[in-house]
Amino acid sequence: MSLLSLEGVSRVYATRRGLFGKPVPVRAVDHVSFSVAPGRTLGIVGESGCGKSTTGRVALGIERPSEGSVTFEGATMPMPGTPEWRRMRARLQLVHQDPLGAMDRRLTVAAQVAEPLEIHGIGDKAERTDRVAALLRDVGLRADLAERHPHELSGGQRQRAVLARALATDPALLVADEPVSALDVSIQAQVINMLTDLQEARGIAMLFISHDLKVVRQVSHEVAVMYLGRIVEQGDPEAIFADPLHPYSRALVSAIPVPGPRRIERIVLSGDPPNPADRPSGCAFHPRCPLAVSACRAEVPELKAAADGRQVACHLVEAA
Ligand SMILES: Nc1ncnc2c1ncn2[C@@H]1O[C@H](COP(=O)(O)OP(=O)(O)O)[C@@H](O)[C@H]1O
Ligand code: SF4
Ligand SMILES: [Mg+2]
Repeated sequence: MSLLSLEGVSRVYATRRGLFGKPVPVRAVDHVSFSVAPGRTLGIVGESGCGKSTTGRVALGIERPSEGSVTFEGATMPMPGTPEWRRMRARLQLVHQDPLGAMDRRLTVAAQVAEPLEIHGIGDKAERTDRVAALLRDVGLRADLAERHPHELSGGQRQRAVLARALATDPALLVADEPVSALDVSIQAQVINMLTDLQEARGIAMLFISHDLKVVRQVSHEVAVMYLGRIVEQGDPEAIFADPLHPYSRALVSAIPVPGPRRIERIVLSGDPPNPADRPSGCAFHPRCPLAVSACRAEVPELKAAADGRQVACHLVEAA
């Protein structure tokens, strides 16, 4: 049974070129489908601007899809702002990439963590106090930090506080959008370990978004590689690492340093970085793809079943 499922989801924004320019539709997310089972992690990886955060916001119900549907715990995502939506939001929480931006600078750590409990009317005052103390303990924050303000904490401590706040309402699913990207590499590992330990202990599912394939591999049961709003390869992280089938996944994997003799030769992508306002015809990756053939300019490759349970969108990859 899936907890969260997206079916053919697209998100189109109208953006203007210049102050008086005509609105141009920008397809930030284009026909994305996936599902996340309880307790499992789906990692979404791809370059900046490929639509990861937009996918996360649509999955959380903060934004409505322009096309397609989002289902959570068997029900269609309600309209933002309605009482049903607020109830659902208690079960679905966001861990933001910028902890300082996600926190209210005027509130102490304890007050930030208590806030969702107050909003959702969980427990009385004494119960909330106990719950906040337990949450801070769970994320490894010392009790004396509870009365500090966000700017008095280190980056890692802030991210722990944001996580405690996200866990307060006992969510079934976390959308973690670049949760460790702003942290030093040494602290990244600690926060990731804590996140996966808590996830396992509480059986929480996760949509883990990052531009960093190394990090995504560590935490995900399944990985979706995105390029210009579409999923181009999806499957088991170890299989994608060992033998990426899509040329874009291949380039991403090849950029990760590995000790010993390199198995995949480094592929440096040429051409302009992708721009959803100016989407290439056919396979959107064709201007940068070292293997492109003429069909790639004309036809959009559909995501289809390939070797070992993977889904791949490339004309040159054989269907399973
Ligand atoms: N609110 C918005 N209005 C217009 N364009 C947007 C909006 N949000 C995102 N975009 C555009 O959609 C594309 C995908 O953005 P985003 O989902 O933030 O990508 P990522 O998280 O992978 O970096 C980008 O080109 C971005 O400029
Ligand atoms: S469809 Fe063509 S351009 Fe796209 S990834 Fe495959 S080979 Fe490259
Ligand atoms: Mg983003």
